[in-house]
Amino acid sequence: MILDFKTTDTEKYISLMKAENSGRKKRACVITLGCQQNEADSEKIRSMLISMGYEITDEEKNIDLAVVNTCAIRAHAELKAFSIIGRFKANKTERADFITAVVGCMAAEEQVCEKIKKSFRHVSFTLEPSMIYEFPKLLYKYVSDHKRSFLFGADEGHLFEGIVPNRRSSFKAWVSIMYGCNNFCSYCIVPYVRGRERSRRSADIIEECRNLIKEGCREITLLGQNVNSYKSDMSFPELLSAIANIEGDFILRFMTSHPKDVSDELIRVMRDCQGKLTPFFHLPVQSGNDRILSKMNRTYTREKYLDTVRKLREAVPGIALSTDIIVGFPGETEEEYSDTLSLLSEVKFDMVYAFIYSLREGTRAAEMDGHIADEVKSERMTRLLELQNKISLELNLPYENRICRVLVDGKKDGEENIYTAKTMSNKLVQFSSDVDYTGKFIDVKIVRAGVFSLVGEVIERKIQND
Ligand code: 5AD
Ligand code: SF4
Repeated sequence: MILDFKTTDTEKYISLMKAENSGRKKRACVITLGCQQNEADSEKIRSMLISMGYEITDEEKNIDLAVVNTCAIRAHAELKAFSIIGRFKANKTERADFITAVVGCMAAEEQVCEKIKKSFRHVSFTLEPSMIYEFPKLLYKYVSDHKRSFLFGADEGHLFEGIVPNRRSSFKAWVSIMYGCNNFCSYCIVPYVRGRERSRRSADIIEECRNLIKEGCREITLLGQNVNSYKSDMSFPELLSAIANIEGDFILRFMTSHPKDVSDELIRVMRDCQGKLTPFFHLPVQSGNDRILSKMNRTYTREKYLDTVRKLREAVPGIALSTDIIVGFPGETEEEYSDTLSLLSEVKFDMVYAFIYSLREGTRAAEMDGHIADEVKSERMTRLLELQNKISLELNLPYENRICRVLVDGKKDGEENIYTAKTMSNKLVQFSSDVDYTGKFIDVKIVRAGVFSLVGEVIERKIQND
């Protein structure tokens, strides 16, 4: 169901909180862990906080409210979240009216909420991600009666329209097009914590993109757990093409795509909308072995994946590819693991995000036999990264002396005149400059290529987006 301010009491609670905060200087900090979807949700939470009279800060001291937006994808992410949540215990000891709210994927897990209830008593409320529009209500209730609440597992998940995200960047934007996942890959917790797939109306998405472009946005990234299964009055390729046809100087990216649904129509749109759609595709393969792929419930084979890669390369010559890999899935033999290595050598991805399999309670893989020892998993990871580093360097070296159009992200942390930017193929470039080109497309000449980034020199300033 699509909800908005008219069909919920969100606006009422925003007004009540605003009245509560009026005349007081209230400050809030939102900490975001995990994926871009969480970043996008945090932008909406910040927007609601501002409407409720809060000033937003990145500081953890001298604040009245901390929101921790958590990630549940791997055990390590959960440990990190607990450690951050724990930091705010001191704030509560100092001030009894301090509020800590836990949102994001962990807040949708019953056992996490139980743990927070018992062992993190300074947490005021938790709220699962499909219901963030309830944030003002839970906050107001806590401020009014000081009773802790834990809202999770409410339903399959709604869609809420109308919260204009408080975006950190004026020239780059995440735009969620769908939420949830129906794929139930056997290792993955996401379908359990983010609910079933639901797609936003195409008209709402296109309007949001149109406004962003009018305001000078240069890069839009469409987001969804599996954007290819976007379904409304338009298919995903139709939506992409409609957005790419909006007038303006901007580029369009999207993530994440499931290989099983990369249609010929999508590949055609990639070919026909070059310029707006960047020559880059993130296509998580997870494993190069058919038995493991089947146990992962990925529903494609190595051959089928390779066929998609071939079609993409035919349609968009020079397209950069990235992927996700899991090493040490339960039962993965050395031979099956070596199929993943051979796939990396065969495809030659520009970038690989490799993860050590992490057991997630409640998933089907957690119940499987043959869990692999930590040392074996780590050793497989090391070998995979060694191979991939060689491949990345091999693919980056031909960039030397090439002129690349890049979008400048801003100053490199802690450096005076060093800037970072991304090529259209999503490669990281660093360059030094006396002029600040942040948010602009410029041309740089690549002078040196490394494994993870390129070094460039500014050669020409593009004038069309001054
Ligand atoms: N263990 C390790 N990696 C995982 N991923 C998802 N679930 C797990 C898990 N249990 C990885 C997949 C996915 C990426 C976002 O995270 O590679 O594509
Ligand atoms: Fe997880 Fe698979 Fe859904 Fe991706 S497609 S979110 S890996 S279940």
